[in-house]
Amino acid sequence: QVFFKSISNADPPSQTNHHTKISVIGVGNVGMAIAQTILTQDLVDELALVDVNSDKLRGEMLDLQHAAAFLPRTKIVASVDYTVTAGSDLCIVTAGARQNPGESRLNLLQRNLAMYKSIVPELVKYSPECILLIVSNPVDVLTYVAWKSGFPVNRVIGSGTNLDSSRFRFLIADHLDVNAQDVQAYIVGEHGDSSVALWSSISVGGIPVLSFLERQQIAFEKDTLEKIHKQVVQSAYEVINLKGYTSWAIGYSVANLAFSIIRDQRRIHPVSILVKGFYGIDGGDVFLSLPAQLGRSGVLGVTNVHLTDEEIQQLRNSAETILEVQNQLGI
Ligand code: NAI
Ligand code: 2OP
Repeated sequence: QVFFKSISNADPPSQTNHHTKISVIGVGNVGMAIAQTILTQDLVDELALVDVNSDKLRGEMLDLQHAAAFLPRTKIVASVDYTVTAGSDLCIVTAGARQNPGESRLNLLQRNLAMYKSIVPELVKYSPECILLIVSNPVDVLTYVAWKSGFPVNRVIGSGTNLDSSRFRFLIADHLDVNAQDVQAYIVGEHGDSSVALWSSISVGGIPVLSFLERQQIAFEKDTLEKIHKQVVQSAYEVINLKGYTSWAIGYSVANLAFSIIRDQRRIHPVSILVKGFYGIDGGDVFLSLPAQLGRSGVLGVTNVHLTDEEIQQLRNSAETILEVQNQLGI
């Protein structure tokens, strides 16, 4: 009270406003890209960071705090101890090994599995009501691992193909010379090599693209479409070859998911959810991306998007790939 005189008869500060809090676990390239994008969105009252590398953690916390004069006010805290995450609405897990050039995401599983088995129980202990948003790779399998810790299925979400779909929309927009935000297009299935492009449901400004091309008797550019999907699958490999890791796009992708969840936007995002029972996938519990509606209580529902027989088959193959990996590990 040094700078301000209290106003007599003023109402005491309201205690009813919910204090919103996000925790980010792992302050590497991905965790920090997510953290800084969240800060620019004025999304939460408090941001907590956790990592095992205490010097890097403190350095990153200070570096973000030093931007206070240019950002919406957010309390930023950091610790190697999970008590710092207590009372989080959303916990975003990015800790873990990343791919070396040419290495597949699935290859990271052995290294990241044990880590997840120690991280998730700590988050659940201090924020039993939170939503878990999994980002580390292989994201679909690790989302399953997180769910197995006993969390309700609507509160465990993998960032999944929200990123792949943005890459897809960028490439289609580039090809058609339109704005990517006007392109509605989904990549579903595994966030990785067996992902599935939903060509049948692409629209630009509300106009279904494939039927439009057919009606105008414009040659069905199947080669171009396949090339675009291949480019999506290759995107991460290319960026990792060039700069060693991917960060900015996943930062925006996850901050976008965080916004939909914390602000109860009820927007539809392709994210990794339990897909058992959808499109005839019944071989076991498997998390894959489908367009899902997200809000304050997590996954609110799954869009009943029409898939062609070929797309359904590809999705089932994607599920088989993931299930094989899970079965080998006995998890
Ligand atoms: P990085 O190596 O820069 O950072 C990893 C961080 O995790 C390090 O700061 C490390 O100290 C920390 N860490 C390690 N063990 C930990 C533990 N037990 N508890 C807490 N922190 C721990 O890696 P980067 O580039 O940030 O990637 C992180 C993960 O995100 C990787 O698995 C990568 O494959 C994945 N990723 C996922 C994407 C997606 O679309 N789902 C996109 C890009 C990356
Ligand atoms: C990405 O797609 C490597 O999964 C990471 O950028």
